[in-house]
Amino acid sequence: MTALDLESLLRWYVEAGVGDAVGDEPVDRYRRPSPRPAPPAPALLKAMPTVPRAAPSVPPPTPVAVPPATLPPPDQAVLGARALALGCADLAGLREAMAALEGCALKHTATNLVFADGNPTAPAMFIGEAPGADEDREGLPFVGAAGKLLDRMLAAVGLGRDGAYITNILPWRPPGNRKPTPNEYAICLPFLRRHIELVSPKLLVLIGGTSASALLGTTEGITRIRGRWHLYHGDPERPLPAPIPAMPTFHTAYLLRTPALKRDSWRDLLEIRRRLDELSAQSGG
Ligand code: URA
Repeated sequence: MTALDLESLLRWYVEAGVGDAVGDEPVDRYRRPSPRPAPPAPALLKAMPTVPRAAPSVPPPTPVAVPPATLPPPDQAVLGARALALGCADLAGLREAMAALEGCALKHTATNLVFADGNPTAPAMFIGEAPGADEDREGLPFVGAAGKLLDRMLAAVGLGRDGAYITNILPWRPPGNRKPTPNEYAICLPFLRRHIELVSPKLLVLIGGTSASALLGTTEGITRIRGRWHLYHGDPERPLPAPIPAMPTFHTAYLLRTPALKRDSWRDLLEIRRRLDELSAQSGG
């Protein structure tokens, strides 16, 4: 194989979602074990010469990182996560509790916990979906291509990472960027809800439809709900004393694929900026 062949093979893997190498030898998990030869018919037995038994042709599987087989069943895991999250008194404690959580399989394939970035005292908290390969590598949210676009958009309205606080619904990258399961969301949501309570932002910006539907409990698509203020009420079992205004907007990864929508996102961002200025004027700052 030439260097060029190798490079295009690697590119093909990356485009197919293969982001991490977990072993030196490939393992074909779909390969069926070779069928055992049928025992010879008794009449032929004597006539056959004895041959030494061939060594098995399937190599033993290469050990790979797999989640422990003892993950608690989903409901118990969700209840456990909720109890753990509610017991956290500050952001450092929340981060520690998430790092210690055993109930979510995503943790076992991720490289890093991606907790948050930016300024926890900033008035606006931005919430995306899940870390990708770059975020998983660096342990910070929105540092890849979608994050660079988010940074440029924030800068355009005078907000840098020190003027915003950024996190995701899921703190671990789903392997190969696969779609997270409802159960994975359910386990991580109590931590996000507690995260919002502890930061207590003035505004939420929900980046993408998944973040919007997880926190607003709506099944309406992002195209219908974006650009308008909604209210985030908190954990339905212990609602916030004052709901937080929340603006759903297109995900920046979606904008990279559909640049024509940037105009709508720009309008959303201007409205967010206007509301921040209004809040600042009200608080005399
Ligand atoms: N997309 C997200 O939703 N979050 C990230 O951190 C990166 C990409």
